[in-house]
Amino acid sequence: MLTNKLPYFLTALASMALSVRATANVEYYYDDEFFSNQNIAPLVDDPVFQDLPVFYKSDPPQQDPGNTPTTPETTFVRPTSINSPKDSYDFISYFWNEASYPNDIAQAATINSTLFSNDCKGRVSLTRNFEDDELNTEYIFGLFSRVKEVDFSMIGYPTEFLITEFNANDSGFFASSVILNFTFPQLNNFTIPIQVDLWAKLIIEDGLVKMNEYDAIFRNFAWAYDEVLSVSGAALVSLAANTTYANYTGDELIKLNAVKSICDVATQYCNGTNLQYDSYEDCVTYLSTEVRLGEGWEGGMDTIFCRNLHQAMVPYRPTVHCPHIGPSGGDMCRDSDMNYWDVVWRYSSYFDNMVYT
Ligand SMILES: *[C@@H]1O[C@H](CO)[C@@H](O)[C@H](O)[C@H]1NC(C)=O
Ligand SMILES: *[C@@H]1O[C@H](CO)[C@@H](O)[C@H](O)[C@H]1NC(C)=O
Ligand SMILES: *[C@@H]1O[C@H](CO)[C@@H](O)[C@H](O)[C@H]1NC(C)=O
Ligand SMILES: *[C@@H]1O[C@H](CO)[C@@H](O)[C@H](O)[C@H]1NC(C)=O
Ligand SMILES: *[C@@H]1O[C@H](CO)[C@@H](O)[C@H](O)[C@H]1NC(C)=O
Ligand SMILES: *[C@@H]1O[C@H](CO)[C@@H](O)[C@H](O)[C@H]1NC(C)=O
Ligand SMILES: *[C@@H]1O[C@H](CO)[C@@H](O)[C@H](O)[C@H]1NC(C)=O
Repeated sequence: MLTNKLPYFLTALASMALSVRATANVEYYYDDEFFSNQNIAPLVDDPVFQDLPVFYKSDPPQQDPGNTPTTPETTFVRPTSINSPKDSYDFISYFWNEASYPNDIAQAATINSTLFSNDCKGRVSLTRNFEDDELNTEYIFGLFSRVKEVDFSMIGYPTEFLITEFNANDSGFFASSVILNFTFPQLNNFTIPIQVDLWAKLIIEDGLVKMNEYDAIFRNFAWAYDEVLSVSGAALVSLAANTTYANYTGDELIKLNAVKSICDVATQYCNGTNLQYDSYEDCVTYLSTEVRLGEGWEGGMDTIFCRNLHQAMVPYRPTVHCPHIGPSGGDMCRDSDMNYWDVVWRYSSYFDNMVYT
């Protein structure tokens, strides 16, 4: 258990005079292209963690290997009406193309994306609900495009998609399945396919076709999460060979990397009235000892996983997002309203138009 090792861990930190960043023959890299594109300063590298094995950061590749569209010659055209299933299909094809890297960066920058209606309501199975265009733009486009900016991310970003199932009626209601290939910025070239089942309701607002309600289910996500943790963990364990952390498990190293990453963001962006932790050390101690890493279905609960997801949003609106990475978890990373029965029943009245009464 990480908790049992913590006193030793903190003592080791205190006595560490020299820092040696672990390097390995394997080339894991961190794609920080976002910084150069957006002119955002790199996050502070706090000395507390200098001996922690991290994925080696290097210049991003010129061409992201996962960045080739499914069918390179296809141009996706946004439909202008929702009068046929084909219109809805064109919309969702356009939507996933916009949600794929690097288009998502441009969409995120448009706050608010016109692909969501002003009062868009969505839910994402492994996290929570997202209401209004701004929050949806941040989480659906911004979160993944900012993953590359995050020190250590437990999730990847979508690079390719393939629509495998689709059906719609003649007024913009549809059900679909898509396979998204998620590439992991901290694991060179590692990509995992994840099926997303999505139904949505489209409307026309201000002359544009927009998503007004959606329910996105990441099928088998908890399984994908475990697969990724095992790959990530094995890589960190191999990097840890000659460090203070030689005897840590993959999950423990993942947790420490995620904690470091969250605390870097909290220190840089959550200050003044948005302050969450008294110091960097308090942040590390609290998150390491009081908060569990989390399972793949706990992306909206009081976990490191949840805070690691939300940290990408903090730079957008610190006032809104700092509490999510703080001790309380705000209204996104807490357990108090996530009792299983409540979660199941809460949605019975969340969406409109779905049940004949
Ligand atoms: C984005 O939409 C929100 C409401 O959903 C609004 O408060 C905000 O001002 C909008 N931002 C921009 C830049 O239009
Ligand atoms: C996704 O990755 C798989 C390998 O896991 C690859 O065969 C496939 O071509 C990629 N692209 C799509 C759109 O599925
Ligand atoms: C499409 O489905 C929705 C939801 O059931 C319904 O409200 C709408 O009337 C349907 N449109 C048509 C043209 O059948
Ligand atoms: C990653 O992909 C690049 C480009 O496709 C390739 O040159 C390189 O050998 C790959 N690296 C690994 C570790 O597979
Ligand atoms: C650890 O040290 C051994 C012996 O010096 C060396 O062979 C190995 O490559 C080192 N591993 C790492 C990850 O630095
Ligand atoms: C790891 O465990 C081995 C065997 O128990 C021990 O000899 C070694 O000192 C430990 N290394 C660290 C860094 O704790
Ligand atoms: C708070 O953080 C922001 C973002 O890093 C920074 O621009 C600002 O100067 C900080 N304010 C204080 C009072 O430190």
